[in-house]
Amino acid sequence: MNILVTGGAGYIGSHTCLRLIEKGHQVSVLDNLCNSSHEPLRRVELMTNSQIPVFIGDVRDADTVASVLRDGQFDSIIHFAGLKSVSESFDKPTEYHDVNCIGTLTVARTAVQLGIKRLVFSSSATVYGNQDTMPIPENAPTAPTSPYGESKLAAERVLCGLQDECSSFSIANLRYFNPVGAHESGRLGEDPRGVPANLMPFLARVAAGVYRELLIYGNDYPTVDGTGVRDYIHVVDLADAHVAALSALQKRPRRITWNVGRGVGISVAQIVSAFERTTGINVPCRVAHRREGDIAESYADVTRITEESEWRPHKDLDSMVRDLWRWQSLNPHGYSGASTPT
Ligand code: NAD
Ligand code: UD1
Repeated sequence: MNILVTGGAGYIGSHTCLRLIEKGHQVSVLDNLCNSSHEPLRRVELMTNSQIPVFIGDVRDADTVASVLRDGQFDSIIHFAGLKSVSESFDKPTEYHDVNCIGTLTVARTAVQLGIKRLVFSSSATVYGNQDTMPIPENAPTAPTSPYGESKLAAERVLCGLQDECSSFSIANLRYFNPVGAHESGRLGEDPRGVPANLMPFLARVAAGVYRELLIYGNDYPTVDGTGVRDYIHVVDLADAHVAALSALQKRPRRITWNVGRGVGISVAQIVSAFERTTGINVPCRVAHRREGDIAESYADVTRITEESEWRPHKDLDSMVRDLWRWQSLNPHGYSGASTPT
């Protein structure tokens, strides 16, 4: 397939570009680089001995989107471009709706107008909000608790509306749980700007000595050991779920909503032990108050994706932390460091 990847320079997008090219697809990228750089794509090109056409532009800009889509003759789109910080979305709700919802509408409507057949969308488990029962199936009631979650749910609805109007246009809403880790080569990974808000990148920086200790946000939750439980999925497994979604849509026009996780809940304390055991590095930790807005447990029911596709997650927790640490060690300053591998 000839695929346009919006947001392809980002964390999940760059891993997905790599997997698509490895599987023989042609890939182009549209990204405004507001949270990324050219460097991950340069590395993907080196790793695959290929060239990736990169268009710098904003997915909200209808003229840019139309010209990129028209010139590229794409048959499919994977739409990663978006903003992803729950906390920032409370400060900038309009910006989040604009980029995540209007950006999605602009890309998808133009795709329909030009006869592009398939679009895979980066949604999030955050559309579920707080659920009483675990694991969470796709038909659980949606109840987002942040402007970020609302913008993702609104974007899903926009896509479903377009698909209702045009039955030859296929869509897949992939609801990611907690993507973590890095490519096993150590050449691609997550490079958050500033202080990382999420557990895994922060933990890696504590292990590297950048920060003194990891704060464990609460050890009095009703979970296996009192710490928060999430469904962590290796970013390369997640990348492969996009390949699986495209091939499911290629088989027949349809609308898909899939949870993408491993269906396994893992606690913060279990992550820290796995990291220490796998790397041999001690991670100083301190228990702190619960983080506002956090929930005790969240993990996916993955029955649907495993029944409707060949996709299976292959990478366990040890792979996630080992690959995270390899990425952190080889790229102590992320993609902007001087000693980056080529
Ligand atoms: P990321 O920030 O690394 O990548 C997003 C990419 O989109 C970046 O390269 C950024 O420059 C680009 N972008 C942002 N706004 C744009 C715009 N208006 N026009 C063009 N490009 C734009 O994030 P990621 O972790 O790779 O996430 C990818 C997608 O998956 C996002 O839509 C995010 O909301 C969603 N998602 C991520 C997670 C996660 O934990 N990382 C979880 C659930 C869903
Ligand atoms: C958050 C977002 C979610 C997003 C995901 C990945 C919220 C409410 N949800 O999920 O929408 O998809 O990031 O980007 O923000 N923890 C610590 N110490 C830390 C950091 C985290 O103990 O320094 C704990 C948290 O309390 C939680 C777990 O680690 O139990 C995972 O946290 P995090 O990585 O931030 O992800 P989520 O909160 O699940």
